[in-house]
Amino acid sequence: MRPIKTKRLLLRKIDREDVKDMFEYAVDPEVGPKAGWLPHKSIEETKRVIEGMIISNEVYSIVYRDKMIGTIGVHTKNDKKYLGYVLNRNYWRQGIMTEACKAVITYLFRELNIDVLYISHFIDNYKSEGLIKKLDFELVGPKTDIVNGEPKQVLEYKIERYRFERKMLTWQ
Ligand SMILES: CC(C)(COP(=O)(O)OP(=O)(O)OC[C@H]1O[C@@H](n2cnc3c(N)ncnc32)[C@H](O)[C@@H]1OP(=O)(O)O)[C@@H](O)C(=O)NCCC(=O)NCCS
Repeated sequence: MRPIKTKRLLLRKIDREDVKDMFEYAVDPEVGPKAGWLPHKSIEETKRVIEGMIISNEVYSIVYRDKMIGTIGVHTKNDKKYLGYVLNRNYWRQGIMTEACKAVITYLFRELNIDVLYISHFIDNYKSEGLIKKLDFELVGPKTDIVNGEPKQVLEYKIERYRFERKMLTWQ
C-alpha cells in the first residue's frame, strides 16, 4: 500500500498516533455497529484495534485537514476482496467517502491489478447502500453473515474490471 492523495484527502497507512482521533468516532454508536463492530469502551481498546490493523496492513487512515477522520481498507474473505469503510460522524455527507472510495478502487484495479472487488452492507444501512450504488457496484444478492455471534442480513455487491473501467470515465 502506498499513500494516496486526492483533492481533499490523504490516505495513508494507519499509525499508532491515530489513537485519539479513532477513539473520537469509535465510541459513536452510529459508526462501528453499522460496520459490524461494537463501540469502543476505552482508549486501550482502540490501541489494540490499531495494533491489529497495523499487522493486517490492509487499512488506510483517511486524513482530512491534518486530522484522522476514518478508515478505508480491503480485507480478504473466502478468496474475495471486500472494501470496508467508516467515517467520523462530524464529516458525513460531504462526499468524503465517495472521494476516498474512488481513489482506493482505482488503485486496486490499476496498480494491484485485481479483477473484481466486493462490498456488503447490513440490509438497513441505507447510507452505505447509497454510496455503493453511486459507485456503480452491482447487486450480487442477499446473504446472512454472523456478526458478534448474531445472524445479520446483508446485501452483497461486486464491481468487475470492465464495469470499473466504464464507470471510471465519469470520475475524472
Ligand atoms: C456510510 C458512510 C461511510 C458514508 O460516508 P459519507 O462521506 O457521508 O458519504 P458521501 O458523502 O460520500 O455520500 C455518498 C452517498 O451515500 C449516500 N448517503 C450518505 N449519507 C447519507 C445520508 N445521511 N442519507 C442518505 N444517503 C446518504 C448518498 O447516496 C450519497 O450520495 P449523494 O450525496 O450524492 O446523495 C458514513 O455514513 C459512515 O461512516 N457510516 C457509519 C459506518 C458505516 O456504515 N460503514 C459502512 C459499513 S458497510
